[in-house]
Amino acid sequence: MNTLLFNNLNLTYKNGFQAIKDISLKIENGMFGLLGPNGAGKSSLMKTIVGLQKPTSGNIIFNGTDVSENPDDIKKNLGFLPQDFGVYPKVSAYDLLQHIAVLKGITNSSERKNQILSLLEKVNLSDFKNKEVHTFSGGMRQRFGVAQALLGNPRIIIVDEPTAGLDPEERNRFNSLLNEISNDVIVILSTHLVEDVRNLCSEVAIINQGKLLRQGNPNELITELENKIWSKPIDKSELEHYQSNYKIISQQLIERELYISAFSEQPLSDFSSVNPLLEHVYFHTLTQKQ
Ligand SMILES: Nc1ncnc2c1ncn2[C@@H]1O[C@H](COP(=O)(O)OP(=O)(O)OP(=O)(O)O)[C@@H](O)[C@H]1O
Ligand SMILES: [Mg+2]
Repeated sequence: MNTLLFNNLNLTYKNGFQAIKDISLKIENGMFGLLGPNGAGKSSLMKTIVGLQKPTSGNIIFNGTDVSENPDDIKKNLGFLPQDFGVYPKVSAYDLLQHIAVLKGITNSSERKNQILSLLEKVNLSDFKNKEVHTFSGGMRQRFGVAQALLGNPRIIIVDEPTAGLDPEERNRFNSLLNEISNDVIVILSTHLVEDVRNLCSEVAIINQGKLLRQGNPNELITELENKIWSKPIDKSELEHYQSNYKIISQQLIERELYISAFSEQPLSDFSSVNPLLEHVYFHTLTQKQ
């Protein structure tokens, strides 16, 4: 079992903006979802874990070792697929993996070759290994990104909003790939797609404005909301009235009708009870006083 601990992590950028506020978390093998809206601090947290930026205070402990005291230890064990992978050079997928493998310290050339070929197979890119990566589609780029993250058999894999921009089929394929690799390593997936977390993750943390708001097993968090979510179709003109009188956690258009979902411990007359979803947990958490 691998264990990654954050203790009272804080990160303030050079311009004085505090992007991470006192986050403490324990993450173990399996898929861990980091859920939060745009600007919540997901990428900031991930870049801090992978060592691209140092926390202003607090520490990160990987399998008992403080990362700041032994940065090489976590670097050796880590694979990262950043939100913006950035440069796609005019070299073949195989050659780029070869280059990254060398950077990751896989010095034995036959081992390097075996790893690269089996990873290309795993992410379904074997047929394209001699194609230049800049010609790849979005989905192929993300799968290539997973292959490079898996070089060196890391024990922590961090993927930052990996399915943004993928079509449904590519997104499914990508999610199954993540699911497959998450058995005996830690996979941290950041996303604002609640459904992806629901389908993949055994643990979720909801963050906003740099703060950790909720953490737990998705099923347990959902159960806590049973008989507390109420829904009703309304006319657009009534929205303001409902917003000022009820704890509205979300509004949704269903077949061109506006439905509101409200949180209430007691039944609300004229509303129907709905089975809670992780989406309700997410919106309820975000709308609570912070
Ligand atoms: N280098 C930086 N200097 C100053 N502020 C930054 C820097 N990088 C990010 N921020 C700010 O920190 C906050 C968190 O940004 P971050 O990119 O971590 O959010 P995110 O949760 O990944 O959002 P998204 O879902 O849009 O990717 C934002 O307000 C952002 O403007
Ligand atoms: Mg981000």
